[in-house]
Amino acid sequence: MKMNLEWLLSPFDKQEFLDFYLEQQPLVISRNNPHYFEKLLTLYDLNELMSHAENLGRLDVVLVNAGKKYQLSDYAKVETVGNVHIKSSLNISKALQLLIQDKATIVINQAINEWLPLRTLAANYAQELNTIPGANIFIAPPNAECFGAHFDEHDLFILQIYGSKHWRIYENPIFLPLEPQNERNFDFSGLKLLYEIDLQQGDILYLPRGFVHDVTTTDRASVHISFGGQHLTWASIVKSFVTKLAKNNRLLRQGMIKDVYDGQTYDQMVLELLKKELELNFNTPFIESIAPKFSFRSSEVSYF
Ligand SMILES: [Fe+2]
Repeated sequence: MKMNLEWLLSPFDKQEFLDFYLEQQPLVISRNNPHYFEKLLTLYDLNELMSHAENLGRLDVVLVNAGKKYQLSDYAKVETVGNVHIKSSLNISKALQLLIQDKATIVINQAINEWLPLRTLAANYAQELNTIPGANIFIAPPNAECFGAHFDEHDLFILQIYGSKHWRIYENPIFLPLEPQNERNFDFSGLKLLYEIDLQQGDILYLPRGFVHDVTTTDRASVHISFGGQHLTWASIVKSFVTKLAKNNRLLRQGMIKDVYDGQTYDQMVLELLKKELELNFNTPFIESIAPKFSFRSSEVSYF
């Protein structure tokens, strides 16, 4: 089967997913098939991938731990050019030491760029759902917590590649949040716990953006891929429309300067302009002209 959304969800019905789950509610698919993701990534593949980490190049590896903050120099060689610090290589033995002794999680960011099967899945998925795709790989020891409770502003598929992870999923304080709505000091106390699950090897969890979660490994180590994409939202389409409009309209390009701005006059002029242009030109051809810009390019991977 081609690696795409249908493959991610199988044997769950894709149409049922689109109708009742996408951007609506979490979904767990327990397959009872630990081999399901083998054509995407195995532990042998991961070993191969990590062997590139000693000379990092494009491979972006970080260590995270809910209870501790690390400096790059704790696990990587850092070179200084001018006053910019560049992480040039990973100290694998130091990283493994922190993983074992400190319960740190190793995260490979931007894995799409580095692993062809992931890249293939991402390209197919991006086309199907009009998203900018991204994938990070998490390698965690037993009884570890990578991040504290939080929500993400992009939809996620969690692909359990090895071992298991314990997920607590709470209600969403904001429905489908955009990035600026994601405050790390958000007060999550009092949120209702919706699901508590152990994701096993071969299982998948779909988590719409906004649902709060905290995650720990069980008494087993875990490897999972956090895969997903940033959707082309209606807000971003409207933003593109106004940006395009501004190219031919000096009123919209003018600075909002306090001492020049005389309140209602400008408000009314902008309002009238937007009303007129939206009615005339915000239509299907315009929307379709925006959508292809979201087709996947390698430089546009996201961090999760
Ligand atoms: Fe998350």
